[in-house]
Amino acid sequence: MELTAIKGFKDILPDEVGHWQRLESIARSLLGSYGFQEIKTPVMEYMELFSRGIGQETDIVSKEMYTLHDSRGRGMTLRPEATASVVRAYVQHRLDQKGPIQKLFSIGPMFRHERPQKGRFRQFHQINAEMFGDAGPKSDADIIVMAVHLFEMIGISDLTLNLNSLGCPECRPRFREELSCYLKDLSGSLCPDCQRRAVTNPLRVFDCKVESCGNAVINAPSVVEFLCGACVDHFESLKEYLGDAGVEFTLNHRLVRGLDYYNRTTFEIQTNRLGAQNAVAGGGRYDGLVRLLSGPDQPAIGFAVGMERVIALLEEGGRSETKTPGLFIAGMGDEAERLCFKWAAELRRSGIWVEMDYAQRGLKSQMKKAGRIGARKVLIIGGDELARGKALLKDMDAKEQHEIEINNIIEILKKVLNKND
Ligand code: HAM
Repeated sequence: MELTAIKGFKDILPDEVGHWQRLESIARSLLGSYGFQEIKTPVMEYMELFSRGIGQETDIVSKEMYTLHDSRGRGMTLRPEATASVVRAYVQHRLDQKGPIQKLFSIGPMFRHERPQKGRFRQFHQINAEMFGDAGPKSDADIIVMAVHLFEMIGISDLTLNLNSLGCPECRPRFREELSCYLKDLSGSLCPDCQRRAVTNPLRVFDCKVESCGNAVINAPSVVEFLCGACVDHFESLKEYLGDAGVEFTLNHRLVRGLDYYNRTTFEIQTNRLGAQNAVAGGGRYDGLVRLLSGPDQPAIGFAVGMERVIALLEEGGRSETKTPGLFIAGMGDEAERLCFKWAAELRRSGIWVEMDYAQRGLKSQMKKAGRIGARKVLIIGGDELARGKALLKDMDAKEQHEIEINNIIEILKKVLNKND
């Protein structure tokens, strides 16, 4: 059988990696300027973390988790998202005691057993940001402005910010009840999953991809009509902050998001360039999750960016610039080659990209190789040059060459090469 990568798991090849590095580096620098610190959690966690945290009725938990069992039969799951893991780490290490506000970000792979299609993979990567310790609308606005700012810095502008409020434990039960009643009358047109959800978790019907379920909720009651006074005030204030920051948004009262932990603010940043998989980032407030996972009563809000989708948008603008070696060292003859090997190691130690030939071939084929890999300069040294204490430095663009002294050659090369970098 031919060995290939697993379906839905994808290689990121060297000529694609430039955009990934740029995206990560912009994210690290921007999140740092908003006071976020990096956290790295394991890719595998006990299954209950996700079933409890994300919600039993969600597609992620009910259908999409990669779970295996340890020798005692305890389920261990490849993380389908980062929020539950970051909350687990926050609780386990008592990070709330390090300061009232904790801002944490992480970058890494997530795993969901979904049907692969354009923009949807079984292993995908997220940039994930979570902020703990503040319940007010200003932190919602700060997080959303940061997400928008990230896309501005990456250079993607044709995006829409969708915004909603899902209410709180005070007001959401009334909405749930109303929605459940509404769905009961339409039960015949719902898929079997949604017939069950209509009773156990009616908000999840909004996520269902089955056409008749989508049609059934078109005239469903809207969550905003049920918000309590405090939730309305919170939402209004958030909108004002966003207005002050010059961030445009679209109200979308059907935006329930596919995870159960949200309350009040939810948001999604969408593109119309990727077909059905149009969300490039999504997030919201989840004030009850830390408590639900046995932690202190701390409010929180966060979001995650889908990196593959962002890269797909960037790739429409062309592949990222590829780097080329600063120097190729072509040595001929045993003694010269050994010297070249030593010099290459020394120059690489100071961060200069140096290439050489591994096969002890003649000058012609070494020059051919230097040209093929795009080396900007070539250092040539054979028996004659060695005897004269000189080497030849050739500039491949200017097609010029001059001799340099072997004595002190490392310092001379460092100067010449750094000047050109
Ligand atoms: P999510 O909406 O499930 O939220 O995922 C966030 C983003 O990850 C999506 O907008 C999308 O860009 C990307 N994504 C999700 N699934 C896939 C997939 N199968 N293939 C490619 N990209 C995908 C969360 O994960 C929440 N934990 C976000 C959050 C953080 N909420 C609060 N804090």
